[in-house]
Amino acid sequence: MSKKLIAGNWKMNGTLEGAANLAAAVSDGLRAERGLLDRCDFVVCPPFLHLAAAQEVLKAAAAPVALGAQDCAFAESGAYTGDVSAPMLKDFGCRYVILGHSERRQYHNESNDLIAKKAALAHASGLVAIICVGETEAQRAAGEESDVVENQLNESIPAGSTAENTVIAYEPVWAIGTGKTATVEDVRSMHAFIRRRLQESLADSAKVRILYGGSVKPDNAKELLAVPDVDGALIGGASLKADQYLAIARGA
Ligand code: PGA
Repeated sequence: MSKKLIAGNWKMNGTLEGAANLAAAVSDGLRAERGLLDRCDFVVCPPFLHLAAAQEVLKAAAAPVALGAQDCAFAESGAYTGDVSAPMLKDFGCRYVILGHSERRQYHNESNDLIAKKAALAHASGLVAIICVGETEAQRAAGEESDVVENQLNESIPAGSTAENTVIAYEPVWAIGTGKTATVEDVRSMHAFIRRRLQESLADSAKVRILYGGSVKPDNAKELLAVPDVDGALIGGASLKADQYLAIARGA
């Protein structure tokens, strides 16, 4: 399998100065520990308004860290007040865009259909879509986690998805920002399940990266990243501290 993808989702945190400092700390840390680049690829996803600050720092340092956004519009351009389109992100220099994060599904009522539309535009614009799936606590308690994830996969991954333009992130909603992580066994079985489902729809499914997300920290990263079919991590809280973000990569 290829390198692990270590993705930082900065969510709606920080200031311009903080974003520049965090990007600088990640870049400095990687310069001091180049061995991490043999095992991992890196992407950070700052808030839209902080992308430029992070980009400036990463470019100046020629840091091997890609940029991603946390969402994009469902249309290419036009009268969509407040939205940012996939072509704009590509034009800016983003390589990735996170789509269908549970916080978007929850607070913005994003449906699988909408996420598939956004992902198709991301693909058409030359971006890699990180498509998030995952069940709520109630769904898991009811034993519905596989059905929920299968449905999300079926409906949010657009036609034309490949290992080149698509990454899947399994993030059990109850593990996000809570300090609770899924057990290694739960992660193993869900990631294997996702891989099997992808086999039915994607030609190069074996190469699609499947990230785990939900309270990934330095102290659990090693065991989570060692699980078969876990091809990286989508990290929220711990990605706001460069030392923790890089310590997670060290677990790969
Ligand atoms: P967390 O967030 O690491 O803070 O749990 C993960 C995510 O929401 O992507």
